[in-house]
Amino acid sequence: MTAQLACFDERCRARFPIDALIYNCPRCGALLEVVYPPPEQSAAELKTLWRNRRLSNAPLDQSGVWRYREFIPFLDDYRRVVTLREGNTPLVEAPRAAAYGGLDRLAFKHQGFNPTGSFKDNGMTCGVAQALRLGTRRVACVSTGNTSASMAAYASAAGLAPVIFIPYGNIAHGKLVQALEYGARTLQVEANFDQILALVRQLAERLGIYLLNSINPFRIEGQKTIMTEMLDQRDWRVPDWVVLPGGNLGNTSAFGKALREMQSLGLIDRLPRLAVIQAEGAAPFYELLRARDRSRLHAVEHPQTLATAIRIGDPVSWPKALHEVIVSEGVVEKVTEQEIADAKAVIGRCGIGCEPASAATLAGIKKLTAARVMASDADVVAVLTGNVLKDSDYIHRYHTGSLEAPDGTRIMANFGNAPEVVPNDADYIARIIA
Ligand code: F0G
Repeated sequence: MTAQLACFDERCRARFPIDALIYNCPRCGALLEVVYPPPEQSAAELKTLWRNRRLSNAPLDQSGVWRYREFIPFLDDYRRVVTLREGNTPLVEAPRAAAYGGLDRLAFKHQGFNPTGSFKDNGMTCGVAQALRLGTRRVACVSTGNTSASMAAYASAAGLAPVIFIPYGNIAHGKLVQALEYGARTLQVEANFDQILALVRQLAERLGIYLLNSINPFRIEGQKTIMTEMLDQRDWRVPDWVVLPGGNLGNTSAFGKALREMQSLGLIDRLPRLAVIQAEGAAPFYELLRARDRSRLHAVEHPQTLATAIRIGDPVSWPKALHEVIVSEGVVEKVTEQEIADAKAVIGRCGIGCEPASAATLAGIKKLTAARVMASDADVVAVLTGNVLKDSDYIHRYHTGSLEAPDGTRIMANFGNAPEVVPNDADYIARIIA
């Protein structure tokens, strides 16, 4: 038996060949996932193998995704894999952020250190590998910016033609320019993320383009390794909580799947609880968890947040994410624009920095500790999903006191640090900084 695609809906669970060109279950329409037979190695053997690969100069071993290839064995030939040395992201202690969040200690797993500056690279190396295996020439995605930056880079590196669909005027400049620089055909559509997703699914079928959205189960496989690498870095000590922002909910799905699979392989002995944080103006998953009927997600028609990465009202992966939050005894929280902005500045003061969506994690932690859902002495890892330079415009506005929430209210620069204009005068400057 080899890797297969399986319908995620437990009432169906239909299986399909790993190289079937499908995005949803052809029988029932539900999401698909990749399933595997158990590996030949024991948990101890896998841990040793993966640790030893850190000394290797082989490109595949240097990748923080493919180093763990026994955990994502959907390929049978690795020769055409394109790696930009994704993953390999640091786990950094942040005492100042911990104190702000009401915790004794806090570590950030910073995915912004990836080649294109976000966690999307972990998944994209896998999605592009599958595109190559399927023999597709063109790949496409709809994106709030990071997926498109990542897809552009990996597709171009692999000699494929990337086509990108983004909401016109609503992605951070740093992300848009990456897509251009990496050579993607970039279409700015006058619609929001959710509307464009529907459009792209039609076009992909009509034009025979392979879709690399987070609905793509191979991208989810790659994103699983964020959790594997984090646990490897902690010598497999399981934290009490893993905190992450929720947009389209691909990452929540990937982390939950990874943690369950690592537990069943004996790599870890328990599951951390997942805490998914959404922006208040784009929080359909938060509402779902509070609803009596969880069989249907009520989309937010006009999602609003300055954290444009997570400005998504109709997240496709919600059924998987719901399962993972329940299984891990997790929680979903929502935070305001002001809370995100302040948390982001605090993360910056730690010398770490991140993009707005990532900072929702710390804002969420602050709320969860205040509500005593999260204990102050809990062992917490928060995942920073994107690099500080992705949205420099937001940062400048915050620190200069000119950042406005989508509803027009002014965001207060509670941790502001505005630049000062000074004359070319040594005495004057000496006086003001003395
Ligand atoms: N953080 C950042 C920086 C993101 O770019 C995204 C998603 C998320 C968090 C949310 O992750 O969708 O897995 O829940 N960005 C996607 C994109 C939607 O198109 O780049 P999710």
